[in-house]
Parts: sequence; C-alpha cells; structure tokens
Amino acid sequence: MIQGNDTPRDSFSTKFGVIAAAAGSAIGLGNIWRFPYVLGENGGGAFLLIYLGFIAAIGIPVMMSEFTIGRNAQLNPVGAFRKIAPGRKWHLIGSLGVVTAFIILAFYTVVAGWTLEYLVQSVKWLILPERSGVAGLEGEASRLFFQEHYTDFTGGIWRPVLWFLIMLFFTGYIVASGVKKGIEKYTKILMPVLLLLLIVLVIRSLSLEGAKEGLVFLFKPDFSQIKDAPVQVILEALGQAFFSLSIGMGTLITYGSYIRKKENLASTAVSVAAADTFIAVIAGLAIFPAVFAFGINPGQGPELVYITLPVIFQNMPGGLIWALMFFLLLCFAAITSTISVLEVIVAYLSEQLKMTRRRAVILATVAVAVLGLICTISSDVFAVFNASPDILLPFGGFFIVVFIGWFFSKDTLKKELSSDGAKRIRYYPVFVFLVKFVAPLAIVFLFAIGVYNKVITVFPGIG
Ligand code: TRP
Repeated sequence: MIQGNDTPRDSFSTKFGVIAAAAGSAIGLGNIWRFPYVLGENGGGAFLLIYLGFIAAIGIPVMMSEFTIGRNAQLNPVGAFRKIAPGRKWHLIGSLGVVTAFIILAFYTVVAGWTLEYLVQSVKWLILPERSGVAGLEGEASRLFFQEHYTDFTGGIWRPVLWFLIMLFFTGYIVASGVKKGIEKYTKILMPVLLLLLIVLVIRSLSLEGAKEGLVFLFKPDFSQIKDAPVQVILEALGQAFFSLSIGMGTLITYGSYIRKKENLASTAVSVAAADTFIAVIAGLAIFPAVFAFGINPGQGPELVYITLPVIFQNMPGGLIWALMFFLLLCFAAITSTISVLEVIVAYLSEQLKMTRRRAVILATVAVAVLGLICTISSDVFAVFNASPDILLPFGGFFIVVFIGWFFSKDTLKKELSSDGAKRIRYYPVFVFLVKFVAPLAIVFLFAIGVYNKVITVFPGIG
C-alpha cells in the first residue's frame, strides 16, 4: 500500500503561501461564528483564559507534530502513519481523521451556506429596504427582525439546502484544481482583507453605548461564571482550540506534506496559531460590546453572530453595505477552511486508493452532500455533528502527540524541525516535554473527568 516518493508532489511555493494556506484553513467560521457563541455560552473571560492556555500548551505542539509527520512522510494521514510506522496500528488515527473530516465538512458547509443566504439578503436589504422590512428599524425592533429572519431561514429546507450544495460545489471545484493553483491563490489576498473589515467592526462596536460591559464579559475572567459545569467548560475550550486551529484530524499532516523541506515548521505553527487566535479575539471584540449594547443574550447559541452582526450593520453609517462586504469575506474564509477539510479526504482517496483527483473529489462531495442534507433537515443531527469535533479532535490529537513524543525517531524529529540542521531549535526540550507529557496527560485527564461526570449524572448513586 505504501507509495514512495516516485511522483513529484505538488507543494506550496512560498513561505507566505504556506502560512496563508494553513492560516486560511485555521481561520474560518470557527473563529467568527463558533468561537463567540461557545465563549458566550461558557461564561466569557474565564473561558478565554482557559482557551488561550490550551492554544499555547497543546495546540501549537499538536500543530508542529502534524506538520512534522506530514512533511516527513510526504503523504496523506493514513499513508503517512503507514509509511512511518509500517505494520503498526497507527494508521487508524489517519482513518479516524478521514471519518472526522466527513462529519466536519457536512455541518460546516451547511453553516458556510448561511453566509451566502446572508450575502444575498444583504443585497436585498440594501436595495429594497422598504419591501424587505428593514427600513427604519432600530434597537429592539431591529434585533427582533434579524432574530426572526434567522429562525425562518434555518427552519426552512430549500434555501439552506441550496446554499449548502452551492458551497460544496465550489469547495469541490477548488480542491479538484490542486494545491498551488487552487488553495494557495485564493487564501493569500482574502485573509488580510477580512482582518481589515473586522477591525472596522470592532471600532463601531466599541463606540456603541453600553459597549464596556461586553469588554468586561470578554476579558475579565470571572470563574464564578463557570462553577456550575467547570469540566464541561474546560472540555469545550479544548475542543474549540482544536477546531479553530484545524488540528487533531490530519488536515495539517496533509498540508505539512506540501511544505518544502527548508521551511521552519515551528515558526510556521506559531504564526498560524497567533493569526488564528488574533482573529478569534478580534471577532469577540466586534461582537460582545454590541451584544451587550443591544441587550442580546450572549449565551443564546449558534445564532449569536447571525443576529448580532446584522443588527450592528444596520445601525452603522453606510448600513448594510457593510453586511454585504462582511458576509462575502466570511464566505471566503469559510471556503479556505472547507477546502482544507475536503483535501484530507481527497488526498486519502487519491493516494491510498489510487483514484484520480477528480474522481476522489466527486465521490467525497457526493457523500458529504448526503450527510449535509441530513444536517439541514434535522437540527438534532446538526447539533450532534457540531459537537462531535470537541471529542474527536482532542482524541486524535492525543495519539498524534504520543506518536511524536514516544514513538517517532528523535533524530528525524530534530532533522525536520531544524530543516536538516540549518535552523536552531532551542525550544526543542520544551517541545518534547509538551508532546511527551503535558499535552497527552491533560487530554487523558480531562476526558477521564468528563466521562466520570457523565457517569455520575446518569447513575447518581455512584458519586
Ligand atoms: N479551523 C477551521 C475554522 O476555524 C475549521 C476547520 C478547517 C477544521 N479544517 C479543519 C477544523 C480541520 C478541524 C479540523 O473555521
């Protein structure tokens, strides 16, 4: 099954291209849609603090481990484990990653489709304010309008399905055109523009009356907010950190395999994690001041940004033209992430099962289409799919760090990290300590108390 390096492999062409592609994968709906509402549901500042701790102590080491495995093996996650550890069961982690990719892609592409709905609605709100009912709405009325729009839209079937299929088609199309032409090109320009627009939103949000309460909520850790379910909050922070960084299922093993040998894996990982975290915090800064200023409930769930942001836009000078730009960019940010998830499946199908790239794309998107349709029809399935990365990704991440920490040759590790001795790796002992002990023990410990908590809620007698 193992393929050697006989076929020349597509790769990212510049250092910035690598960072842009990996950051493009990391930055997406996870930062702008998922992060704010998960933080809002889990007590604000205390969640942020725990989240940041996980990014630094677990996220970056897992990311470096994935890059190392991918670049060393020059293969998809399944092929990579088979090649580095032939005859062992490690490739199952790669297979789990492929399965996880299907699940994530299904619900994620559905939410990505929502950006298209909002894009089209923004145009309508902008040019037909009277007919679409947004004209003259203020404060509470404006909030109710967008709340209702969200409920009507997501409660329907045809529009969510249509947008989902369109998003999936674009994703498939880009992945079919390959690494350099497809992935790298689209990411490089769009990410910086998204950041600029977010900054404009932050300024607007902060200038609203009552904005300060949002800042306090976001930045002042109040641990009494999480005392009812601390384990739940900590596990969600861990899951969100993995989800946001795109780690734990082999996406970055796959992207690592496209990184050239001379690139510095540690600095790439740190840059990507920093950019991703920065965007998440900026999104929080754009959203929470407005949430409090408009009296929106920060813990209301997945609809948080889809209601808060249109309300802010409507109350801005220039109004819904901002909405148009924002949803357009969010849509691009989502696509640079969906392509990275699809790429895992396609790399697997084409390298391990020897399909052509085109065939692999078609097969994968058809399967995802089926799963995604189920997600749009059943909100329960959607909720389960949306929550499953919180478990599946840290689970995969555990085995990835254990593999690097305990089983991977330390000589090869040093060679990869130092680009064959060309770069200094002073951080090396810290890295090894994190991947050998800190990250795996933290994950095992958190899972164990998570399971224990579940058991005692189901069988209260035991506790
Ligand atoms: N990280 C992306 C986001 O924040 C989503 C994503 C892309 C992802 N690829 C992934 C999540 C791989 C987990 C694994 O929007």
